[in-house]
Amino acid sequence: MKRFEGRKVVITGAASGVGLATAERIAEEGGTLALMDINAEGVKKVAASLSEKFGVKTVSYGLDVSNGSQVKEIIDQAAKDLEGFDTLLHIAGILRTYHTHEMTFEQWHEIINVNLHGTFYACHAALPHLLANKHSVIVNMSSTSAIGSHPWMSAYAASKGGVISFTRALYIEYVKRGLRANCVVGGGIATPLHAQFRAPEGADMDLLRGAMPYVSFAKPKHAASVIAFLASDDARFVNGTEVRADGGALS
Ligand SMILES: NC(=O)c1ccc[n+]([C@@H]2O[C@H](COP(=O)([O-])OP(=O)(O)OC[C@H]3O[C@@H](n4cnc5c(N)ncnc54)[C@H](O)[C@@H]3O)[C@@H](O)[C@H]2O)c1
Repeated sequence: MKRFEGRKVVITGAASGVGLATAERIAEEGGTLALMDINAEGVKKVAASLSEKFGVKTVSYGLDVSNGSQVKEIIDQAAKDLEGFDTLLHIAGILRTYHTHEMTFEQWHEIINVNLHGTFYACHAALPHLLANKHSVIVNMSSTSAIGSHPWMSAYAASKGGVISFTRALYIEYVKRGLRANCVVGGGIATPLHAQFRAPEGADMDLLRGAMPYVSFAKPKHAASVIAFLASDDARFVNGTEVRADGGALS
């Protein structure tokens, strides 16, 4: 399949995990890529290796998605370098775990700043460029924690719930201007993010059972294929919704 030939795709969080696997899938299918990550060196290497492997044009940028003015500057730069783009796959995110009553305001704000404000900043900066096309796409990354009940992740859950609500609002606001905006609700994907999970002191691990998939953890490419589907024309009638990729954990 070459669903992304002629398409120009911005991906955040592309140095690792789901973002990296998504970049690989889009490159394999012929897409031009602007890859972004706080890990500037990592994302540069990913861009170079995908160009070499698949013969597609790639550019890369270091950026912190929680820094709104930097996000605008870098996304505008990517639009200049690629002469516009039609797709934003906003995947960058962090996970932190705390007993809620012990969480500091700074810890709460860190998660909300990266996951929720970062989603707003990326979409806000990308929208003028996306809307310059007849058809354009946003896929944002939510989590089963937004819908299920995951212990010690109240800030993460709130940030990912916000991503769903925000994306649905984008859909209706811009549907008549050719934008499709959807979320992937991920869960149980084996990536370095899991190293950020630490059961807080005294945690009752029994509480975590509902968060676990019944099958083994997925590979990042299994989430990437869902993101690529939503980004592609195969999903042209899918809008303002969420697709769950969690191995059935919430069912
Ligand atoms: N792994 C899972 O099971 C799972 C489940 C549900 C949702 N998600 C979501 O999927 C997304 C990707 O996570 P992953 O599992 O691939 O983890 P990951 O840690 O492998 O990748 C996250 C990427 O985001 C980048 N990043 C982190 N903070 C950033 C910032 N401030 N600015 C720019 N880039 C930043 C990291 O450098 C990294 O490359 C996240 O939004 C995560 O919340 C993951």
